Amino acid sequence: MSDIDVLLQETRSFPPPSDFRVTARVHDARLQDDASMDPVNFWAREASELTWSKPWDTVLEWTPPHAKWFQGGQLNASVNCVDRHIHGPRRNKAAIIWEGEPGDRRTFTYWDMYREVNLAANMLKKLGVVKGDRVAIYLPMIPEAIFAMLACARIGAVHTVVFGGFSPESLRDRINDCGCKVLITADGGYRRGQIVPLKRNADEALKDCPTIEHVLVVMRRRSGVGDETFAEMQEGRDHWWHRLKRQVPKHCEPEVMDAEDLLFILYTSGTTGKPKGIVHTTGGYMTGVASTTKYVFDLKEEDVYWCTADIGWITGHSYLVYGPLANGATQVVYEGAPDWPEKDRFWQICERYGVSIFYTAPTAIRAFMKWGTPYVEKHDLSQLRLLGSVGEPINPEAWMWYHKHIGQERCPIVDTWWQTETGAIMITPLPGVTATKPGSATTPFPGIKTALLDTAGNEIGVGGGLLAITHPWPSMLRTIWGDDARYVDTYFTKWPNRLDLYFPGDGAKRDDDGYLWILGRVDDVLNVAGHRIGTMEVESALVDHPAVAEAAVVGKAHEIKGQAIAAFVSLRAGFTPSGSLRDELREHVAMKIGALARPDDILFSADLPKTRSGKIMRRLLRDIAEGRALGDTTTLADPSVVAALKDQYEAQE
Ligand code: WT7
Repeated sequence: MSDIDVLLQETRSFPPPSDFRVTARVHDARLQDDASMDPVNFWAREASELTWSKPWDTVLEWTPPHAKWFQGGQLNASVNCVDRHIHGPRRNKAAIIWEGEPGDRRTFTYWDMYREVNLAANMLKKLGVVKGDRVAIYLPMIPEAIFAMLACARIGAVHTVVFGGFSPESLRDRINDCGCKVLITADGGYRRGQIVPLKRNADEALKDCPTIEHVLVVMRRRSGVGDETFAEMQEGRDHWWHRLKRQVPKHCEPEVMDAEDLLFILYTSGTTGKPKGIVHTTGGYMTGVASTTKYVFDLKEEDVYWCTADIGWITGHSYLVYGPLANGATQVVYEGAPDWPEKDRFWQICERYGVSIFYTAPTAIRAFMKWGTPYVEKHDLSQLRLLGSVGEPINPEAWMWYHKHIGQERCPIVDTWWQTETGAIMITPLPGVTATKPGSATTPFPGIKTALLDTAGNEIGVGGGLLAITHPWPSMLRTIWGDDARYVDTYFTKWPNRLDLYFPGDGAKRDDDGYLWILGRVDDVLNVAGHRIGTMEVESALVDHPAVAEAAVVGKAHEIKGQAIAAFVSLRAGFTPSGSLRDELREHVAMKIGALARPDDILFSADLPKTRSGKIMRRLLRDIAEGRALGDTTTLADPSVVAALKDQYEAQE
């Protein structure tokens, strides 16, 4: 019965509503067809929509696997996000409508943004930051986080934003990997009514960050935050944002940047323990995000756009900062949790500001489903006209729920597949053109070329395979900071002698209509609530604990988070398994990496299942964690280990 259901769901198709289609920016399939003929022409046309101080000489130089876009061209990202809007009717249009978790509100027009970004840029200059320097940003979701990013862009400094939920150690490692000169943080931020002590975490991290010269501290003013206990200021090193702001000039001339100059580095997890610093450059990245924001979200002048992502992730960079602002959008920015103080907070915000475009993650949609429709029905969501999803495959039932209860069967849903590395959306419906199917990201964006390949590199027409991107695109990562060999090795060696094929790490299938269905990661990377976590990172954090001899980490299906972390741990001599040790290890991982990496399950085991060559067989551990019959165990050195583990795991459940 349930199998039939799945089949039925997979064949459902939702053409764009006709009233949506007639007013959509793209309403016939031509954009997609023309562009698929020639990505270079398409992207050149899209790039010409940006403000350049000098036009480019060549659109693309491709020496696989290294691409350069728009060489010879010069532009500044902050000019494209702010200055270009202040001369016409957008000058006093709201750019950011911000709401803090405790309920405080602030609104900034494009003119306000211009003033704030100029001041922030001058603050950084005053602290000695020059073009090419790296600046770490460890802030809550407050307007200053956006000003800080754009201020870096204005003076040509490279920002690296570290998610506020990451631990001091994670912050320290990122700062040290790229040698940041300045850190921008805040006394604290709000999350579910609690204060996240960012400055204290930062102080902890900075005990071991020799390159940091200054710390700029935003006061997130509410009772309790901003007092000395949350921010002990170190004389000479630390500076209050609001004080320094009064000491700098109001205008900062934007730095002229080459198209290929670095815009930012953002760290993401890979298959080894060390996060990768993904490098994005100015011209190509801005082209990719500006173009996709406009077409994928069908963005119009009067829209109120809300992307619920945190700026600590690529979604926040591309679709909360650079994409919407380059398009002169009005957007909502919210600091806190979706269930604080009540589980209707998001719908309250949609109603209060008349949100018309709403972009969130499947993990959030599954939580809303679980909380129930009464929280939604209390609110007027009549202004919504388009919904988006990103971060992991969306289950057909979650898609249908989103469509029915949030979109009220009126709003197209864009399921957007992309990655930190791709910079911008790659596979997505165009909402005025594409008939959507629940669970499918549909087809590539114009100018994007993909293929499904088997491991030998043969093309698969219909069926499952490895996803590949077969032509460079402007917003692609340029390298991994400080490790170009790892760049080549991670993304361009999946198919022998094919340095021109980018491998994103995902499997996918193509149906009879040519639609793509992303199946998820095929490497040792987990996707927990839409966040990428490397199994190796969690294993390293576990092995760091004195009681642990060896650890193997796998993902197991989870109703809300998509995947949860299950760890198998063998202890060193002298330590015995216990509930309290289990809790201690879970906290140890949270402390080392951040709460998002805390394992759900930990199973103690004398041995881990290994092949005769000593490789841990994660596939079998996944079978155990997900309660399946064990797959092929014939390659194991000692098959009895895994059978015993399975019994033990089931006993614990
Ligand atoms: C991985 C990238 C792109 C911003 C959020 C995550 C998975 C992302 C989808 C989607 C199925 C998706 C992939 C991808 N993913 N979007 N619409 N359907 N899977 O960025 O942390 O770089 O993770 O997220 O597995 O490789 P990220």
